[in-house]
Amino acid sequence: MPERDELRAGVITISDRSARGERPDQTGPLIGEILTSAGWTLIFASIVPDNLELIKQTIVDCVDTGELDVLFTAGGTGFGVRDVTPEATSQVIERSAPGLAEAMRARSLQITPHAMLSRGVAGIRGRTLIINLPGSPKAAQENLDVVLPVLGHAVQLLRDDPQAEMGHILKENPENG
Ligand code: MTE
Repeated sequence: MPERDELRAGVITISDRSARGERPDQTGPLIGEILTSAGWTLIFASIVPDNLELIKQTIVDCVDTGELDVLFTAGGTGFGVRDVTPEATSQVIERSAPGLAEAMRARSLQITPHAMLSRGVAGIRGRTLIINLPGSPKAAQENLDVVLPVLGHAVQLLRDDPQAEMGHILKENPENG
């Protein structure tokens, strides 16, 4: 088991061009930097082309090690014919977590109407939360900023950590803290 306070993340960049080495992956490293600056441990990073089966296999392989609390994907959520990240994710999650995607789109719409064009989803497989982020560094950062503040509590809940209940009580009655 990880230390109670340790939050373990993985990042999969999904891009044909980056997987072929034609475009440097800026988004995956940026997500990694944001997470490590926030105290997370980054334990997996990889680049995968926009291929449904390869995306599914990569998600399953790294999630089923049991070493990740949250797995982020970046890219492949738009309307392009090769954009299949949400389909791949939906086929490997066991429970959906629509509130995260709803919140990311709602907040992003205040920045750009193009937020409507991200089809990203979020869901849970085992004890790992999987979150689709859009592919550009700017879009990924803006979306990550929305969910990051709730992920510590999400991980407590996924671990059945008794502290999670305390988190609820403190949230409802801050004067108890
Ligand atoms: N969300 C935010 N916050 N900021 C953005 O700039 N770009 C949008 C959208 N979400 C954007 C955003 C655009 S232009 C697209 S096409 C979709 O994300 C999908 O991006 P993807 O295909 O790289 O996953």
